[in-house]
Amino acid sequence: MITIRKLSKSYKDNSCNQPVFQGLSYKFNSEGVYSILGSSGSGKTTLLNLISGLDDYESGTIKVFNQELSKLSIEGKSELRKKYFGFGYQFHYLLENLSIYENCLAANFGIDNGNIEPTLKKLGITNIKNKLPSKVSGGEKQRASIARAISKKPNVLILDEPTGNLDQQNSLVVQDFLLNYAKENKSLVIYATHDVAFAKKADKSLNIIEHNIVEE
Ligand SMILES: Nc1ncnc2c1ncn2[C@@H]1O[C@H](COP(=O)(O)OP(=O)(O)OP(=O)(O)O)[C@@H](O)[C@H]1O
Ligand SMILES: [Mg+2]
Repeated sequence: MITIRKLSKSYKDNSCNQPVFQGLSYKFNSEGVYSILGSSGSGKTTLLNLISGLDDYESGTIKVFNQELSKLSIEGKSELRKKYFGFGYQFHYLLENLSIYENCLAANFGIDNGNIEPTLKKLGITNIKNKLPSKVSGGEKQRASIARAISKKPNVLILDEPTGNLDQQNSLVVQDFLLNYAKENKSLVIYATHDVAFAKKADKSLNIIEHNIVEE
């Protein structure tokens, strides 16, 4: 469960203070699928980074499985992410000198838990598993980063525009896969998207409007 209370976050640029969230409160249950919509620059990526402990905030609290993020050290937050989180980001962050399979293996601390191959297969990228990221397409990289995030079966899966680089057919494959993942593993999945139809498939569809979350 992730609980946000009275959260304020702004970015300071030289003399200017740009607010992103002001007094934001919201509770994500420990199971279920949440989508986040909002115009470009509204704060979707910032929100995902905040709840993952990847960005700091000025006031309020964020509790992840009852641990308050601002009270944890950098190492403490890293441990929390290792234990509970999986990430699929807008920019894939695959390690360029490892094959797609080895990238998935690295996210599982070097151990093949038996989930990697089936995950690659479901996402339609078995054929590229031994290739380096530089030798595959943008859409394949994006699916590879989702496979990497999911193969360790995280309790919390955070995805920033997971279908952003995909054609319609592959986008639907990824959408179904993510929705099934949440159900089968009783996990919390939170994704940011610009695709309204995809957003509506979530159990709860959130919209960031004027520095706050509005539930659709
Ligand atoms: N590191 C940063 N330093 C300063 N300002 C930032 C930084 N990151 C984001 N911002 C600003 O904060 C606001 C929210 O950005 P964010 O990336 O969260 O938006 P977003 O909703 O994810 O947009 P998009 O749909 O384009 O990905 C924007 O106005 C952006 O310019
Ligand atoms: Mg973003």
